[in-house]
Amino acid sequence: MQRRHFRTLILGAGAAGLMAGAHCGPDTLIVDHAKAPGEKIRISGGGRCNFTNIYCDSSQFLGQNPHFHKSALARYTQWDFIDLVSRHGIAWHEKTLGQLFCDGQATQIIDMLMKELDKSGTTLWLNTSVRECAHRDGRFVTRVENAGQDIEITSDFLILATGGKSIPKMGATGLAYDIARDFGHEVTETRPALVPLTFDKGRFAPLAGVSSKALIRNDKTGFEEALLFTHRGLSGPAILQISSYWREGEAIEIDLLPGLDLATHLRRARHASGRRAVTTELGQLLPARLVSFLAEVSDLTGNLADLSDVRIASIAQAFKAWSLKPTGSEGYRTAEVTLGGISTSELSSKSMESRKVPGLYMIGEAVDVTGWLGGYNFQWAWSSAMAAAGHI
Ligand code: FDA
Repeated sequence: MQRRHFRTLILGAGAAGLMAGAHCGPDTLIVDHAKAPGEKIRISGGGRCNFTNIYCDSSQFLGQNPHFHKSALARYTQWDFIDLVSRHGIAWHEKTLGQLFCDGQATQIIDMLMKELDKSGTTLWLNTSVRECAHRDGRFVTRVENAGQDIEITSDFLILATGGKSIPKMGATGLAYDIARDFGHEVTETRPALVPLTFDKGRFAPLAGVSSKALIRNDKTGFEEALLFTHRGLSGPAILQISSYWREGEAIEIDLLPGLDLATHLRRARHASGRRAVTTELGQLLPARLVSFLAEVSDLTGNLADLSDVRIASIAQAFKAWSLKPTGSEGYRTAEVTLGGISTSELSSKSMESRKVPGLYMIGEAVDVTGWLGGYNFQWAWSSAMAAAGHI
């Protein structure tokens, strides 16, 4: 067996691992079982990578400890990452709600991180499987396999950056959780998040492809963004966002006309244009296919003049407080992130270092910190990586 020593070994060449590798100082090795680094960066943001959010603050993150992420995010902020991106001459734009995307391709962010990695002299081994990881005589001993060769790597520091379980097809595994457990760390319950919600087969099939702005609520929170109907259920940013707060068996409530007092609107319309069909009036506010669908389930026939105040109130209820019970979610197959992960209770929020095993660090999505949709998860990857790198 070949033996090598590096000061720092990083497991995972995703967003967090590459960022840490570029800033850990010399004598650092990153290993990853994938054949290319930063694969999720490459496919993120529809190929343009929503790399941060200008409104990033601690309120857009979930985790068992609602304060844990504050320190890292405050010390390496969205403005620091924007500065890095700008120094590399990458053009970007704000799409909506503070979400920053590359004007060009997401691969620009990977290229930028690879240039930073080169500058720091960090070594990257791809196509490398991790076989075993232990801590002996004050050193980490990690056995990996690369091109059929068994290699034992000793290191003074070990950073776990292998992400969460979302999209196994892209190489996501629970490796960080397993290693963390082996080192005595707790892992909180993990579940798919930022994920489409599913409904009884075919329920929304007639609406597949229809999109509309909506306010989606449950008893914990609410998001006003686009809602998309699909063959299998509901998707779009508003649904992905609420999915992080939804649990099996719970209902969600959809306001299809946020900001509009529909009952008052219909009473005025009844007065001004009583001979207009109810569906025509609603068709001016919402996509026609959506109105036809709801017309069938809520019996929307007749003209505005035919509507009593009680009927108007029930139509307003149907459109502004549409209560639906998802049967499930699309799961890790399409989830953008994993909710839960390595418990933060045994990690330093300043450095991401284990309180149990000195020299062991955990960063990125593997940790029980999950951001909203909109660039927050990458910002957590950058910030947590910088917290660890700055401490090593
Ligand atoms: P990440 O998953 O990036 O990296 C982990 C690395 O570890 C991978 O390279 C993997 O191959 C490697 N690895 C895993 N198991 C291993 C094992 N057993 N052995 C060796 N290596 C192993 N976020 C955002 O802020 N803006 C956005 O636009 C998007 N868009 C987006 C789209 C899609 C389709 C997805 C799935 C996700 C997003 N995200 C996002 C979320 C974002 O991609 C995610 O939060 C970060 O990539 C997390 O970075 P990490 O480095 O922690 O894990």
